[in-house]
Amino acid sequence: MNERKTRVIAIANQKGGVGKTTTVVNLAAALSLMKKTVLVIDLDPQANATSGLGLQRQPGYSLYPILTGAADIADVIQPTPFENINIIPSELDLAGAEIEIARRGNHLSVVREALDRVLASGVFDYVLMDCPPSLGILMTSSLAAADAIIVTMQCEYYAMEGLSVITNIIKQLHDSGVNPGLKLEGILMTMYDGRTRLAMDVVNEVRNHFGEIVYETLIPRSVRVSEAPSFGQPVVFYDPSNRGALAYKAFAKEFAKRFSTFPVSVPAKTEAPAVPDDSVRVPDAELSAPPSAEVSAVETSTNP
Ligand SMILES: Nc1ncnc2c1ncn2[C@@H]1O[C@H](COP(=O)(O)OP(=O)(O)O)[C@@H](O)[C@H]1O
Ligand SMILES: [Mg+2]
Repeated sequence: MNERKTRVIAIANQKGGVGKTTTVVNLAAALSLMKKTVLVIDLDPQANATSGLGLQRQPGYSLYPILTGAADIADVIQPTPFENINIIPSELDLAGAEIEIARRGNHLSVVREALDRVLASGVFDYVLMDCPPSLGILMTSSLAAADAIIVTMQCEYYAMEGLSVITNIIKQLHDSGVNPGLKLEGILMTMYDGRTRLAMDVVNEVRNHFGEIVYETLIPRSVRVSEAPSFGQPVVFYDPSNRGALAYKAFAKEFAKRFSTFPVSVPAKTEAPAVPDDSVRVPDAELSAPPSAEVSAVETSTNP
């Protein structure tokens, strides 16, 4: 077994608007200030991480041509205006990629195989995947290639709703042998408003439920954080002394500390999973499950 340098972390939550993209972009920025090299992979056809890091959508520059075998991963890694941050952007066609990968039938190993070459190069300290809200083939394939998942949760009621979708997919990736090491490594609470009782209550509930995997750092709600993307910048660069920026820098320190001891041993040669790709399925019902009224911030059916 070899120790590999790069940690591959997916920022996920099948809810939209919970701070996934904001976290990916600002975590990348804060890590870059710590002289860490980061590759962001934008998996969301909305391409918010791409634009948030100052890039335009460009046809042909995304995971899409990799998934279809039309390009090599090295060809689609783009520099950003920010030192130490590179990106595989997104494009609208990523939605079409779902169909294409399904047709090719190697959908669980395709991202991992492509990424293996990036990991072998040892260029990056971290690969951060910005996941779309829906759990489709693209995201499953990406989770098959990840070492860890961090879930972002907005400090509001129903924060934990739907987390079972992620815990289920982790279990399936374990049970099928596709990615037995994948771990729900952490939970980051975002858009925290310290003036409200509700935000504190939600944080306490999540901490009671999930214990120490919840990051100490709380990301406060701040207008500057939401303004920064329209300038194509993470708030960490746009307004470095803003409290949201400071929080993301504190989070990056916590993150780097945790991952410095995170075990990532890989076999010298990665072998394709000995199981058929369709052994990991996202039930259609879960992809489109409407929010359930009974599930509250203290949803107890969700076991970490
Ligand atoms: N800490 C914050 N303070 C204020 N607005 C925020 C904060 N974090 C995210 N937002 C805003 O909330 C919206 C959703 O955030 P985003 O990161 O895009 O979520 P997701 O990627 O989970 O859909 C965006 O408009 C974003 O600018
Ligand atoms: Mg997003």
